[in-house]
Order: sequence, then structure tokens, then C-alpha cells
Amino acid sequence: MTTHQPAGFKLSGVGSSLPDKVLTNVDLEGYMDTTDEWIYERTGIRQRHIGSSTTELATIACQEAMDAAGVGPEDIDLLLLATTSPEHICPGTAPGVANELGLDCGALDIQAACSGWVYGLPIANGFLMQGMNRILLVGAEALDKITDYHDRGTGILFGNGGGAAVIERDPSGVGELLGWDLGADGKFVHILYAEHGDVLKMDGKEVFRQAVTAIQRTVQNTLDMSGTTVDEIALFVPHQANIRIVESAWKKLGIPMEKTAMVLENTGNTSGATIPLALHEALREDRVQNGDLVMFIGFGAGMTWASALVRWNGS
Ligand code: UT7
Repeated sequence: MTTHQPAGFKLSGVGSSLPDKVLTNVDLEGYMDTTDEWIYERTGIRQRHIGSSTTELATIACQEAMDAAGVGPEDIDLLLLATTSPEHICPGTAPGVANELGLDCGALDIQAACSGWVYGLPIANGFLMQGMNRILLVGAEALDKITDYHDRGTGILFGNGGGAAVIERDPSGVGELLGWDLGADGKFVHILYAEHGDVLKMDGKEVFRQAVTAIQRTVQNTLDMSGTTVDEIALFVPHQANIRIVESAWKKLGIPMEKTAMVLENTGNTSGATIPLALHEALREDRVQNGDLVMFIGFGAGMTWASALVRWNGS
């Protein structure tokens, strides 16, 4: 391993996973006083997936990402797992996933709620610059374990899923992490949290307000760091919490929805998994070409927020 070299940064394989079982808005009408129309209009969500486990969803997404990158377990130097729904308080969930995948490397959880996967991008870049060659970054959630599907605030939003990327050095000079921003404000712990053994509690209106502010701030910080403008960016991949949050922030930032990757309608909010899930869908639709600028934007409980701008040279 060489150290402290400019490493380049390339997402060489992306994968995702969703449990088979689907919980639609119409199903929720039987659990609470709500309607499909209300949920769709206020959130952009039609259905979410439930079942499986964080470990299983992470393992499937990682395996798919490794297959797409054409690498095996022996090629991975580190596993980073972003999750809000770990299997245990202790130990972390990443070591179990590493075991399922047959990895022989370090493995740790990132707990930054819905921002976790984007936090992982500059973390991974740091390890590449320290000499690692290949890092698996996965976001995976079994949020059904901490969601009350009788609660009108949270039950309409959350679902399960996983998304992963193999991130590796890119000596070609094309792939690069051009800028990033990480933030947290613990004054807002109380607006979205789950106590040990309990379900998620949320002040939805305040989360909405803070999220729109955080997105604007973090996008601007990453644009400033990279000396880039909104117009130069080919694709924005935001956290998928509520389409109205994205629309409000985009309006203020001048970002068109056509340049946005969204899977929210079919997945609901899968916290740490939403961004790699949306990225994977955009890749399937051939929306990203090598050399394109792609921005990832996360926000969530904490409050935490994060964004990262990548010049794409990918899978
Ligand atoms: O990763 C971050 C995760 N969290 C979020 O992204 C949450 C962000 N916040 C939100 O998405 C929205 O706050 C919600 C979608 C959760 C709620 O929407 P809202 O517009 O803030 O609803 P509200 O609680 O202010 O309620 C407005 C009205 C009320 O009726 P009245 O008093 O105006 O007659 C509620 O009783 O909507 C009613 N209502 C519902 N009706 C049908 C609230 N929840 C529901 C529901 N179905 N599920």
C-alpha cells in the first residue's frame, strides 16, 4: 500500500436490495385513519417494502455491488455500513455482514441516520488516500422493526432496503471526489429519535423545516468547495424522505427535478439506503455517463446532513 497519494475515486460497482413484501398506502388505510391520496400528495410515496433484516439486505446489496465491480471478498479492504436499524446495540452490524460476505478486513457501522451513506463517501476517500484499494460502502435498513405502522406521522414514511457501492482508487484521473460537506446539530435530537426498545418518534413539521434548510446549506458548501455551479451537475441524488422536501429545497437552489434521481414512490424512506438505491436505479436507466458530475445529498435525524460531489467514472 502506498500512502498519502492522490487516490482518485470511483464507484466501480453498485447494487441494491428490497424485501419481497410490499406495504401499500391502501394497506395502511386498514391500520390508521389515512388515505392513499393523502399520503401520495403529501409525501410522494405509494408503497414501501417490509421484512428481511438489515444484515440480509446489506449482504445482498454488497454482493451485487461486488459482482458488478467484478471483485471478490479478497479484494475488499474495508466494509462501512450506514444504518439506523442495527441488529444489536452491541456489536455493530458490519462485522456480521462481513462474515456473510466472506470478507477478511475491518468492518464498522456509521450511525448518522439518513445521512450515513453520504458521510461514508469522504470517509472512504480518506482511507483510499491512506493506501487502501477498495472499500465497500453500504446503507441498509430494517426500519419496520422501529416503525409503528399505526402512527400517522411515521408509519406512512418508512420502509426497508439496502444499497451498496464498491469504491476504489482511480488512477485514470477521471473519477474523483471533488467536494464534500458534513454537518450535525444536536439541538434537534428531539425532533426525530428512537429510544432503546422503542419505535421512531417524530415532529414531522420541524423535520421538514430543518431538512429544507440543511439541504440548501450543504449543497452550497459542496458547490463552494468544488468551485462548481448547479448547472454543471448532471445528476442529483438526494435522500428520499418526502418529495415535497426535495421540491422545496430545489426551488430555492434552482435545481430542476428532471436532473434528480427518485425512487421514493416505490420504496418509501429507507434512511441510510435511499441514496444508493436511487443511484442504482439511475444507473439502470443509463442516466450517468463517465465524466458526469453527480451530487449526493443526505439529511436526517441528529440532525445530520452531508453532501458529496463526484466526477463519475463508474460501473
Ligand atoms: O429522513 C427524515 C424523515 N422524516 C421526514 O422526512 C418527515 C418530514 N415531514 C413530513 O413528511 C410531514 O410532516 C408528514 C408527511 C409526516 C406530515 O405532513 P404534515 O403536512 O406536516 O401534516 P400535519 O401533521 O401538519 O397534519 C396536517 C393535517 C391534519 O389535519 P387538519 O388538522 O389540518 O384537519 C392532520 O390530522 O393532515 C392530517 N394528517 C393526516 N391525514 C391523513 C396527518 N397525518 C395524516 C395521515 N393521513 N397520515
